[in-house]
Amino acid sequence: MIAIFESEGQYHALDDFCPHQGASLSAGWIHDGCVACPWHAWRFALSDGTWMDNPKVKTDHFEVQLRDGEIFVAIPIL
Ligand code: FES
Repeated sequence: MIAIFESEGQYHALDDFCPHQGASLSAGWIHDGCVACPWHAWRFALSDGTWMDNPKVKTDHFEVQLRDGEIFVAIPIL
């Protein structure tokens, strides 16, 4: 599952699964360029998925493109 966020006219895509205990980040709230998890308020940067309390930890972040009014997310092939 991937969560898509819109903030200040920019779209961002992060893994929807919070790395703490698995809440859906799409149910969180956006503030100051971050999404806060709805369960325990861990905050992740929308720009690259960095956990704001420990920059060594990141959740997956995906490239987003807007083409002809549709949102495309680049998913890496494993
Ligand atoms: S489940 Fe997201 S901060 Fe705890």
